[in-house]
Amino acid sequence: MTVSEIERIKQLREELHAHNYNYYVLNNPTISDIEFDHLMRELQDLEARYPEMYDENSPTMRVGSDINKDFVQVEHKYPMLSLGNTYSEEEVADFYDRVKKSLNEDFEICCEMKFDGTSISLTYEDGKLVRAVTRGDGVKGDDVTANVKTIRTVPLVLKGEGYPSSFEIRGEILMPWDVFEQLNREREAREEQLFANPRNAASGTLKLQNSSVVASRKLDAYLYYLLGDNLPCDGHYENLQEARKWGFKISDVTRKVKTLQEVFDFINYWDKERKNLPVATDGIVLKVNSIRQQKNLGYTAKSPRWAIAYKFQAERALTKLTEVTYQVGRTGAVTPVANLEPVQLSGTVVKRASLHNADVMANLDLHNGDMVYVEKGGEIIPKITGVDASFRISGTEPVKFIANCPACGNPLTRFDDEAAYYCTNEDSCPPQIKGKIEHFISRKAMNIEGLGPETVDQFYQEGMISNVADLYTISEGEISCLERLGEKSAQNIIKGIEESKDVPFERVLFALGIRFVGETVAKKLAKSVKNINALMNASKEGLMAIDEIGEKIADSIIHYFSSEKNRMLVERLRGYGLRMEISEANGVSVPEILKGQSIVISGVFTHHSRDEYKDMIEKYGGKNVGSISKKTSFILAGENMGPSKMDKARTLGVKIINEEEFLAMINDADVPDASTDADNEKTENVQAEVKNEPQKRTDANIQLTLF
Ligand code: IVH
Repeated sequence: MTVSEIERIKQLREELHAHNYNYYVLNNPTISDIEFDHLMRELQDLEARYPEMYDENSPTMRVGSDINKDFVQVEHKYPMLSLGNTYSEEEVADFYDRVKKSLNEDFEICCEMKFDGTSISLTYEDGKLVRAVTRGDGVKGDDVTANVKTIRTVPLVLKGEGYPSSFEIRGEILMPWDVFEQLNREREAREEQLFANPRNAASGTLKLQNSSVVASRKLDAYLYYLLGDNLPCDGHYENLQEARKWGFKISDVTRKVKTLQEVFDFINYWDKERKNLPVATDGIVLKVNSIRQQKNLGYTAKSPRWAIAYKFQAERALTKLTEVTYQVGRTGAVTPVANLEPVQLSGTVVKRASLHNADVMANLDLHNGDMVYVEKGGEIIPKITGVDASFRISGTEPVKFIANCPACGNPLTRFDDEAAYYCTNEDSCPPQIKGKIEHFISRKAMNIEGLGPETVDQFYQEGMISNVADLYTISEGEISCLERLGEKSAQNIIKGIEESKDVPFERVLFALGIRFVGETVAKKLAKSVKNINALMNASKEGLMAIDEIGEKIADSIIHYFSSEKNRMLVERLRGYGLRMEISEANGVSVPEILKGQSIVISGVFTHHSRDEYKDMIEKYGGKNVGSISKKTSFILAGENMGPSKMDKARTLGVKIINEEEFLAMINDADVPDASTDADNEKTENVQAEVKNEPQKRTDANIQLTLF
């Protein structure tokens, strides 16, 4: 290797870092994409020839690797605290007055956007990115360095001078609105679950195991908080401006102000203007600017006294109701949907909103052509919250709930105590037939990959399926000659159908779609009755003797199996090889260490999804309950547990347990004393069962069917 080759590698790295910065941070490229690719290829070639020149922060490292790895947990040098939330100007004024009183000297406030993504802590040593860690439980988080390195706005090597030899910088990883919308369009086309909002998309992406997929998702990162012993200035704002010179993306809307009126002006301006920002924001963060003063003010147990978040009200928009249409679900329930003149709301265009049921519609006193208020809560699904009757043209008719099924024309029925209207023509009403099949193939039921609503519709239209058992009669040849579906898709679908034959009995039971038999009830039933024959022949009293099975569920089960058609369907499924009894591994009892305990789950989790924790609680004999009361045994708390829950827990003296403590509790119970043969056997069975646990969550997402 020659000296000039070494020099060339160094020069290329420097140049490419600079071009990345110009392009991604400044939005001002100085060379063409082709020239950039050319330089990158030259560097890649040189690095491939001279592996001794390996540098983990070379610009070539941004392309991501295919290696799968588990995340390692890393302890934060400084805990990652959250901010106290406020929702009104009075609370902001209280904060300002508290600071004023405590400091008793002049102070400045740094006003920033509150970015709505997933927080990250970056550690730099000697100007190089050495680690990127998620918030986790605030004390330790996941090491996601490989994934963060693919984010172009995160500098791998710092520019300029004056940065401390070692420091941390914290900020938010975000998926810009346009990237989020494009990603969801692609997922919709592939019939994959949609992300509910850019925050979920960003955090789901950051936790992917394959960093080349992360690289393709075009995440962004705004940094807003420096920590270290030798920061250049006493001012937080001034430090951020320095950090910008080192190559970080720092929001340019951040302002330093003095008076409370200036704080309000900032809040009011950005409450409206934020919809023009490229990324999601959900409030304003106010920070006392001087670090010396920050130290004087100190911290409460949870958050700094020198900073506070002001959360924006959910945005609402006024638009015209063009039509109310109706959707028929798999159970025959008919849901009214408001079709709207498209309107911009929190960065997306809203065209439809759910009206839930006839009562909600009646309470709104909705008239044809009304101007209605649409709101988005925390999530992306909009709702109609009111009508502005002053726009109503006199003589317009109230919207009347339909009397017949919009799909098959059958008269609708309303059952006692239920808000919904139903179409009872379950045998030949197309959306009910297709809905039942969609439920059957869904992730938590038979989890048949490769199949989605569109394909189910296609199979149904082609006359290939009219019930769930028909899925098992389809051949690869039949699928591959259909429009849109080639050989590869056909193979995948058939593979998915075949694999579903290994799905455990409790999920088969859930997949049947018996009314009121959700996931939890299906598990309870499977554990108790052990096989489908026992369930089919059970009496109402026998069913009601099972823990948590009440009259409504028992009646529904009896009703389901009283139908000859349903019994035949089950026989056909049994004939195709589906599991109709609990497997041995499932039959083995794990220690019921949570027996008799009522456990509330709250917050956002890092290691497993909420559903997975719910499953674990049930598996170990506990009961997952929705709200905190005196009877609650403990709260399994993740990140961002709501303040009202926190207060209630404190008032009632309910114990709060974090993810790690909970998992340790379960692990302790799962490690058997391997001193006898019987125990050894138990170990194997427990392990076999652990393999059957639901997959670890990669994407935190929500299925959006209506919108
Ligand atoms: S400062 C000690 N500044 O909001 C406080 N946080 O509950 C350090 N966030 O977890 C945080 N924008 O993820 C700060 N401009 C901003 C922010 C911000 C968003 C998030 C952050 C934090 C949460 C506060």
